[in-house]
Amino acid sequence: MYGGGYIFDEPNKKQLREEQQHDDPEKLAIFEARISKGEKIEPGDWMPAEYRRQLTRLIEQHAHSEIIGALPEGTWITRAPGFKRKLALIAKVQDEIGHGQLLYNAAETLGKSREAMINDLLSGKSKYSNVFNYPAKTWADVTVIGFLIDAAAIVNQVANAKGSYGPYCRALERICYEESFHLKQGHDALIALATGTPMQKDMLQDALNRWWQPIMHFFGPPDKVSQHSEKLMQWRVKMASNDEMRNQFLDTYVPKLWELGLTLPDPLLHKNTETGRWEYTDPDWDLFFKVINGGGPCNQERLQVRRWAEEEGRWVRKALMNPKERRALPVA
Ligand code: COA
Repeated sequence: MYGGGYIFDEPNKKQLREEQQHDDPEKLAIFEARISKGEKIEPGDWMPAEYRRQLTRLIEQHAHSEIIGALPEGTWITRAPGFKRKLALIAKVQDEIGHGQLLYNAAETLGKSREAMINDLLSGKSKYSNVFNYPAKTWADVTVIGFLIDAAAIVNQVANAKGSYGPYCRALERICYEESFHLKQGHDALIALATGTPMQKDMLQDALNRWWQPIMHFFGPPDKVSQHSEKLMQWRVKMASNDEMRNQFLDTYVPKLWELGLTLPDPLLHKNTETGRWEYTDPDWDLFFKVINGGGPCNQERLQVRRWAEEEGRWVRKALMNPKERRALPVA
């Protein structure tokens, strides 16, 4: 029961049916010409069924990642060291849920209802980012998430905000703006631990060691394995390949970590000065696929929390959807 989520025009049902039957070659040529000129595709425009399907999959996974991603940090709100960090963390967690809202709205413009998306998340059918299936054991874990995972997300989102689908790009622009504040918060916490007591430094190093592989996984499987990259790049949904984004992330953030005297748990990690590319030990991709398919350390826990929220929030959604019940709600 989520109706009323559209902030754009609802997709035309007749158009959806026609697209699903076949991709008109003339329309496809016009569509691809528009994409190559850098034009934005809007919800009411004709698009190939596969473009719609791929975008729905990608934006929906992104939206799920935002609301699930709020959970590991959310557990630290009561334990964040000091009032200032508590306030910043509350604001950040709230922002992440807001990003989920923006992205679900963008995905809805492609014709899938919010209810169907949430059902697919809760049943385990839809994926969400691998990194949120790991526990945040210490404050240093929250710090690593706040700095490196937000940084990784920014690399991906700044690039894709220049993509072809209008509603997704506009949502990403707003998200990137807020993520840049999250990055500052993460950087500030990182500096405090990295320049703190020996115990704080050890705690940070330990968290970094545990998070490094999930972060390397974050950008997706290597280009030679990635199933969707080629088509998504041709249609300018993804503006760079998984390996390109991973390289860009390493280029910007590894030197910052090394400057602070931190180490990374990969003896092969270095920049090849001739190619300008980073070389590293290939992360364990079997583990990656296990984690994204439900077998990570926290998958069950994360989905259970969302199922609980779904159940407990049902009466609120019902009241909001029903004008009579809405009038009966207490005024704050
Ligand atoms: N976490 C979970 N699943 C991932 C993943 C990750 N870090 N990276 C890739 N996958 C999944 C893909 O969803 C796909 O599975 P599916 O076919 O069942 O949907 C499979 O692994 C193959 O990967 P690939 O072909 O490379 O997928 P892709 O072209 O969609 O690229 C991303 C993966 C993450 C780069 C892309 O989906 C993306 O840019 N998403 C938007 C940003 C986002 O979701 N960020 C996470 C939260 S901030």
